[in-house]
Amino acid sequence: MSAEPTLLELLNARVGAALAAAGCPDAPAIVQPAGRPEFGDYQANGIMAAAKARKMNPRQLASEVAAKLDLAGIADKLEIAGPGFINITLSSDYLAARAQAALTSATLAVPQPPQQTVVIDYSAPNLAKEMHVGHLRSTIIGDALARVLRFLGHTVIAQNHVGDWGTQFGMLTAYLIEAEQAGGELDLNDLEGFYRRAKQRFDDDDAFADRARDTVVRLQGGDAQIHALWQRFLDISMSHCEEVYATLGVLLTRADLKGESAYNAMLPGIVSDLQAKGMAVESDGAQVVFLDEFKGKDGEAAAYIVQKQDGGYLYATTDLAAVRHRASELKAQRALYVVDARQSLHFQQMFTVARKAGYAPAEMSLEHVGFGVMLGEDGKPFKTRSGGTVKLAELLDEAITRAFALVGEKNPDLPEAQRHEIARAVGIGAVKYADLSKNRMSDYVFNWDTMLAFEGNTAPYLQYAYTRIAGIERRAEGAIDANAPIVLHDEAERTLALELARFADAVHAVARETQPHLLCIYLYQLAGQFMRFYEACPVLKSEGTVRASRLQLCRLTSATLRSGLGLLGITTLETM
Ligand code: ARG
Repeated sequence: MSAEPTLLELLNARVGAALAAAGCPDAPAIVQPAGRPEFGDYQANGIMAAAKARKMNPRQLASEVAAKLDLAGIADKLEIAGPGFINITLSSDYLAARAQAALTSATLAVPQPPQQTVVIDYSAPNLAKEMHVGHLRSTIIGDALARVLRFLGHTVIAQNHVGDWGTQFGMLTAYLIEAEQAGGELDLNDLEGFYRRAKQRFDDDDAFADRARDTVVRLQGGDAQIHALWQRFLDISMSHCEEVYATLGVLLTRADLKGESAYNAMLPGIVSDLQAKGMAVESDGAQVVFLDEFKGKDGEAAAYIVQKQDGGYLYATTDLAAVRHRASELKAQRALYVVDARQSLHFQQMFTVARKAGYAPAEMSLEHVGFGVMLGEDGKPFKTRSGGTVKLAELLDEAITRAFALVGEKNPDLPEAQRHEIARAVGIGAVKYADLSKNRMSDYVFNWDTMLAFEGNTAPYLQYAYTRIAGIERRAEGAIDANAPIVLHDEAERTLALELARFADAVHAVARETQPHLLCIYLYQLAGQFMRFYEACPVLKSEGTVRASRLQLCRLTSATLRSGLGLLGITTLETM
């Protein structure tokens, strides 16, 4: 069953069909938004390549394709341009009809692609410590992708692959026992301090270090008492995370929690299975899968270690158990790993092992959704003034505090409670948007002033644009006819309607390419087109059907901004 197409998919299909009819059945149409108004709205760019492959004159092929191109009711102008492009100008009636359809649809007429079950592995902090800025990117990129994929009708299974297992936890649990025996007050509110003190003990006192190691063994061996203490530690640590999630407004819950420990029982089976398949072999006492696909400079195959000399298992082993679980139990057709780009090699190797071992079937898509580092003003990884790691909770508090001051300057007369609400939306929105609006693979400089600016490609700018449009609608109250026909007379009306028609393609692109910044670019352009429209076309001062139609464009623009920002996890407000 083929799903309903987006505008771009439709144009590509039609031009593709015309190319086929002109004798080039497999040539891609490559329809793209036209870069300039004089090129029309869309441009078919695939014809030159098709002509070259068949040793045809590209302009002649372009005119043949144009003659066979069926865009009746969609485009009203086709133009052969340059060495063999076809410039497509959509009909205003068609754009108006699309806008009309979007207005009456709960999903803004965004078509749903074929449905998939998608696992998204994101956030995944190490529970030994408090969440720090290093966890911000995975958490908000993952959350945006989860929202976009759900919006498109996919079944999204979030998996919070937290670090909750291994030697660190033996150390922490041993310290917990010791602290309790000493009868002192346990301050687990300050997890960071607790970790530091435990580590200090571990480094300074050999007897404690031995007890810590023994605790790991007992924990992994299933000792009930140790297990209960470890669980208590995790609960507290997890509730710290949940506070951060609540502040951020991300959708993760306990039900999404599937930490490393959850796979512990499966690890021996993974290793024996890899051995049975002839993939894991002994090397210096460890169990290793050698991967010819990843040869080092020395020409040696890369070693993917699945069991250490001492019998312990690794992050790498756990990830194999997890991918197997995601394929066979969760029935994922696509698995996204929203993890720091520095783990890229690990994931490429893990995917290779998983495929070879049959844990992930060939038709299941495995994607490492990597991202770069958050940098400070000095261009180095983001740190506190004294060089420590920045706690996420503190960073978010600062965002809200700064936003509160800005709101106070802009709108001192609003009641304080309302200013607080706006500050939360703006502060958190600014932090998220600053991150999501960059290509995720690049590092970016974290800068309060740019992200909180009310001008430029920022959350406050878009939130404010939304509020302004909502204000226009409010002032027209009573006079809004939700069924009024949209008619596009003015060029600025038409350009706005064209931009509105592109929403579905932006959302689909985010889902396909796992690049939230594509939606940010779109929303920023949409807000810009709206401002141009608003300058050129009076809304409230116009009359009759023109006014009603323009109000409809306002309504669709605000709904699109609200929906689009919502997909990024950013709140919009009626007043700010
Ligand atoms: N806890 C890991 C870290 O902080 C991230 C886990 C990512 N997910 C995974 N399946 N490996 O680096």
